[in-house]
Amino acid sequence: MASDDLRVDSSIDRVDWDRAKADLVADDFDNGRSAAALRRSFEQSQHVAFAWSDGELVGMARLLSDGVCNAYLIDVWTRSDVRRRGAGRAMVEHLAAQVPGQHIGLQTDDAQEFYARLGFRPQPEFLSRVVGKWLDNDANR
Ligand SMILES: CC(C)(COP(=O)(O)OP(=O)(O)OC[C@H]1O[C@@H](n2cnc3c(N)ncnc32)[C@H](O)[C@@H]1OP(=O)(O)O)[C@@H](O)C(=O)NCCC(=O)NCCS
Repeated sequence: MASDDLRVDSSIDRVDWDRAKADLVADDFDNGRSAAALRRSFEQSQHVAFAWSDGELVGMARLLSDGVCNAYLIDVWTRSDVRRRGAGRAMVEHLAAQVPGQHIGLQTDDAQEFYARLGFRPQPEFLSRVVGKWLDNDANR
């Protein structure tokens, strides 16, 4: 839950993925997945969170977890016109509540202050590697 009319839940079946993809593109937060691949990313994640305002999807986030000790937070996004109203915090807390006792890791380019407000602390050092070419796989065709 968040402030005023914002609601956060896990109701993946309510999401219009074409619209979500268009909103991500408009916010310059699209990473190249098709709408179907975006849906698949969320469907295949252990935990998902969606923020709704007046029946419209205004945010999303997902968490990969082994169900024991480690989780990875990804695709955290609030639509630009409803930012700073608590949706991001509500989505992350909705996800965190489902992995008690687990370590949540994430990577961010420029949302450090947002995550700091939510209790995340830098833990050097994050390394990454793309296997082959980004999104060149059957899931994204
Ligand atoms: C980062 C993002 C998800 C934050 O969403 P949001 O709904 O605006 O966040 P909230 O309103 O819940 O903010 C939670 C706290 O973080 C702070 N915060 C949010 N964005 C911030 C920013 N850009 N700079 C500084 N503080 C910020 C808020 O002030 C609030 O602090 P408080 O609760 O202590 O008062 C949103 O700006 C976004 O979608 N950005 C583009 C995508 C992105 O970068 N996602 C992260 C990828 S790793």
